Amino acid sequence: MMPALVSKILLKYCEKQLLSIVLLSGKAYTFSLLGKACLQPYFGEKRPMFESLPSVPADPILHLAVMHREDTNPNKVDLGLGVYKDEQGHTPIMRAVVAAEQRLLDLEDTKTYVGMAGWARYNQLLADVVLGADNQPMAECRVAIAQTPGGTGALRVICDFINAAKPAAKVWVGKPTWANHHAIIKSAGLTLAEFPYFDAATHSVDFAAMMATLETEAEAGDLVLVHGCCHNPSGADLNLEQWRALGELAHKKGLIPFVDIAYQGMGDGMEEDAAGLRLVASMVDEMVIASSCSKNFGLYRERTGTALVITKAAEHAAVVQGQMNGVIRGNYSMPPSHGALVVQTILEDPELKADWLAELAEVRQRIARLRSELVQALQAAGVKQDFSFIERQKGMFSFLGVDKDQVNSLVNDHSVYLVGSSRINVAGLNDTNMANFAKAVAAVL
Ligand code: LMR
Repeated sequence: MMPALVSKILLKYCEKQLLSIVLLSGKAYTFSLLGKACLQPYFGEKRPMFESLPSVPADPILHLAVMHREDTNPNKVDLGLGVYKDEQGHTPIMRAVVAAEQRLLDLEDTKTYVGMAGWARYNQLLADVVLGADNQPMAECRVAIAQTPGGTGALRVICDFINAAKPAAKVWVGKPTWANHHAIIKSAGLTLAEFPYFDAATHSVDFAAMMATLETEAEAGDLVLVHGCCHNPSGADLNLEQWRALGELAHKKGLIPFVDIAYQGMGDGMEEDAAGLRLVASMVDEMVIASSCSKNFGLYRERTGTALVITKAAEHAAVVQGQMNGVIRGNYSMPPSHGALVVQTILEDPELKADWLAELAEVRQRIARLRSELVQALQAAGVKQDFSFIERQKGMFSFLGVDKDQVNSLVNDHSVYLVGSSRINVAGLNDTNMANFAKAVAAVL
């Protein structure tokens, strides 16, 4: 290759700065002169917009799936991403979903648009799933509902809608909460504040500290985000008395409960898991709820969720519905149809519904069994520390309670993938990997 030939250097003033124009191998390059010898490419008014963007760290949860996929260790264990897995480590399509999809394939005769709020029938059915059959807010037409792209979509629609109703409103979240709550709340322009939630020493909810913070610091019109059940990441849930106390506080102070229920049916049952949320709904005038069908219907990639806004009166619900539709139209226009039609087909057919509930019960029982087996496996591996709290917690997640170095050692030395906070997805365990996992934990403790 010919060496580049500098044939000429011209200096000139342009846009109030001294520029050098260098002719290199017959082509002209422009630099701005910084100090004595530092040259920086000069693009004039047309500076590339993306050149100064900082790079974003990998998502702390989603990235684990990539790391696990790329690990060639045959004994690797994936306890990262929150998806249910069966004994073979596979995330199955539920039987009722397969049957419903077959029906849709046979019957669906158009792919024309659905409305901004999605399928009206799905929305009604989901309101009953979340709020209970014959619930008061629906009977009084006080609920605005939108089918959304997953539970995350529901959270974002609600946050955008709240920001339209009360710009930069404050949303209180537990410490810790699902990491993505922070991103969603901030992206919508809302203000994030934290209350203490999980006590690492007792492995349970520090309810007194949570209530003391909300009592003294939260103000009327603030939202309080709590997990409906199966707390992500800790597995530590509020009991019914605590829900009641939260409802009383919200009512007294004019706080708006904001419930994220992404794991209904994975804890104690479809009705039991929504009991706290329903109690609070009966105690307050206004409330917002994000619900997901990703886990309980196993419809993760079909992005099927629901945003519900309970208002004080029917006339408010109509206005809220219009506002939510506006938010949706200005964002993704309308939700994907498929997952919602699958759910609707299942919920409308008694046989499919019974089969879905039966399979969900199998899932729930398997998770509960894995929790007990893990406690025993840790003991068998020689761990002296008390891990019995894992058995008391609900849903797919628990904190191991180990520090960052121990997490890194589990990932790098033992090919055990878990979230940096030490959150494990218990559903990723099975008879094959349980003992290895327990040994790895024993090795890092
Ligand atoms: C999780 O917490 O692992 C799941 O909710 C998946 C996700 O999107 O983070």
